[in-house]
Amino acid sequence: MTAEPAAARVARPPAEFLSSRIRALQPSGIRRFFDMLAEMTDVISLTIGEPDFTTPEPITRAAIASLEAGETRYTANGGMVELRELIAADLERRYGVSYEARGELIITVGASEAVDASLRAICDPGDEVIYHEPCFVAYAPCITLAGGVPVPVATGDETDFQITAEMVEAAVTPRTKALFLGYPNNPTGAVLDREDLERIAAVVERHDLLVISDEIDERLVYGGHEHVAFSSLPGMRDRTILIGGFSKSYAMTGWRVGYVAAPAELMTGIAKVHQYGIMCAPTPAQFAAVEALRSGERFVLEMQAEYDRRRQLMTRRLNEIGLLCFEPRGAFYCFPEISGTGMDDETFARELLREERVAVVPGSAFGPSGADHVRVCYATAYEEIIEAMDRIERFVGHHR
Ligand SMILES: Cc1ncc(COP(=O)(O)O)c(C=O)c1O
Repeated sequence: MTAEPAAARVARPPAEFLSSRIRALQPSGIRRFFDMLAEMTDVISLTIGEPDFTTPEPITRAAIASLEAGETRYTANGGMVELRELIAADLERRYGVSYEARGELIITVGASEAVDASLRAICDPGDEVIYHEPCFVAYAPCITLAGGVPVPVATGDETDFQITAEMVEAAVTPRTKALFLGYPNNPTGAVLDREDLERIAAVVERHDLLVISDEIDERLVYGGHEHVAFSSLPGMRDRTILIGGFSKSYAMTGWRVGYVAAPAELMTGIAKVHQYGIMCAPTPAQFAAVEALRSGERFVLEMQAEYDRRRQLMTRRLNEIGLLCFEPRGAFYCFPEISGTGMDDETFARELLREERVAVVPGSAFGPSGADHVRVCYATAYEEIIEAMDRIERFVGHHR
């Protein structure tokens, strides 16, 4: 007797192979604008959060030389020791906080990987992670993907988009494991001063929390502001994961090189995620980063001065036009309020692009409290900003 052939199963639509967690995740709101932009010409784009400068030449040349010398293999999982030592020395000199190059610092594929690996290393299912919004689009999705529960704290114009100790305190529950901070802030340009950070540190200590501090924009601060590394505050080193990178300060977004520093016991866990998921950051990019730290300071200062010039121009012009914004003191964004035009942020950005061919990002792409604002990036040539502001003025004039 022959067995009956099994009845053919109805094929699942491919999307049903995706996990429910992934299906529930929304794609980034910024991408839609980039897609629209890609199909248009003569647009002044003030959208993308990356330097318009190309990587300084000595840095690029160092990577080319490494390739020509045959340095094309993996590095150690944690990255080249020389690079780790240079970063550790830089953090010590700049902020007075020390990390062991071996055991407390690893090189990652941009700050992006550092955010993801840190969260995956610390989250048990259901652990709450407090974060401020509006913020960089990856924070909440990465908390979710790590199995944690994102707990947003809305910030707004009242505090110039700074999270305060009181806001953190109000969001803490018995399930809170960590506080995620991203200052200087993308998309608002807000920074936190030492006193703000110290007050937050007191709450962190009282509730025995961990802090993940994304300080990728630490070198882009202006107007006399001095960046303070969260881990340099008294008592905070042992409860902080510090994230940094080369993308912004050295105009190296495409190289994909960043780092994460943390006490050894925490780093052991983060390094496991990195080792199994990534192996190591790209070798030529690590050679480039070594050169950046050796000889790149001059370029950092030059670019910073140019951003500062553009920042002042853009802040002045937006306020003159009636799109009010506080003076951003970090990163390279202005975050004006646009509700006076009678449009919401999506409509404002869409119509501005259609009518005047200037692209900005709707603030709600960075979290609900970003609504009624747009992110306007000044990592664009000075002359382009002048032209863009004239176009925005005309646009706002038409919609009053
Ligand atoms: C606040 C913030 N964190 C992290 C990143 C990711 O940086 P990287 O290029 O180093 O992955 C960005 C990039 O825009 C950012 O704005």
